[in-house]
Amino acid sequence: MPQSFFILSGEQPELAKDELVSISKSYDPKATSTKESRLVIIKSAVPWEKIAKRATFVRTGGSIVSTLDDILETKLHLSKPKTFACRVINLSSKKINKAKIESDAGTILKEKWGSNVSLSNPMVTVYFIITNNKKYLGYAETMREPKRPRKTIKYPTELDWKLARCMVNLSQLKEEKTICDPFCGTGTILLEAESMGIHSIGIDFDGKMCNIAEKNLVDNGYDSKVVNSTYHDIQKIKDKIDAVVTDVPYGVASRTSIPPKRVLQDFLSIVPKTMKLVIVYKKGLDVDELGKAKKYEIFRHKSLTRVIAVT
Ligand SMILES: C[S@@+](CC[C@H](N)C(=O)[O-])C[C@H]1O[C@@H](n2cnc3c(N)ncnc32)[C@H](O)[C@@H]1O
Repeated sequence: MPQSFFILSGEQPELAKDELVSISKSYDPKATSTKESRLVIIKSAVPWEKIAKRATFVRTGGSIVSTLDDILETKLHLSKPKTFACRVINLSSKKINKAKIESDAGTILKEKWGSNVSLSNPMVTVYFIITNNKKYLGYAETMREPKRPRKTIKYPTELDWKLARCMVNLSQLKEEKTICDPFCGTGTILLEAESMGIHSIGIDFDGKMCNIAEKNLVDNGYDSKVVNSTYHDIQKIKDKIDAVVTDVPYGVASRTSIPPKRVLQDFLSIVPKTMKLVIVYKKGLDVDELGKAKKYEIFRHKSLTRVIAVT
């Protein structure tokens, strides 16, 4: 089974790993993973680029060629690139002369391939990844950064795009599936889903927020539907959606007097039990209905810690 590697950025390490696994499983349910330090290895038939372009908290990725004993004696099974660079990623506790390994490996490969070293714009980067337990050889063709959606209208209560993107990925959906965000606000979750080729439907009972979400979506060329109604409308569209990904109110909304915990409980009582649900709420609103969910806490500031729950 092919193996891909991903070096996590260091933000939200648990979420970051589970996001990678969820993306992989959306294409290959048999995908498996291991993690050591910031290195995540995924065994699956899914090309690494397909996973990396969706992943929120990944710095570098590529294909693993082999594990190594002596880095410089290993044969590289790669076709000859025009330009390349060598890079050592040291995740071990040992001090390593990275520059020497990179330069020695560069000299060997230059001779073997007859290619040029380009540190600024290589076609292929060869990675030597060193952890406390193993050394890996990997490579990656240079990938173009995926285009990020641009938010024309922002709002103080909007969700960070990184959490929104990661939440969409935790729903384990692939392209052409559909999510619904029944508390869509400015449309952050909808935008992230659409940017990954996942359709989205938004609902919000505040007409002003619906207009903002629509403008943000249209300005990026997305045609998601935004419905000005309460979350109860999810029952009307349940057959058209594959998952619910949402950011429920943190306080009492101005146009209702219902406390947020009651909103959350009522909402959970109407979402079909078999529907994949990824929900973020303010810590403290915890409800029994989410007792079995996998949870992640994200500290924002002293009066806001969010909880992402995945059922
Ligand atoms: C936490 S905000 C969502 C923010 C959004 N994730 C964003 O990035 O802009 C919650 C949203 O739920 C909406 N809302 C509150 N009660 C609602 C209800 N009963 N039905 C539908 N929407 C509701 C509010 O208008 C608000 O826009």
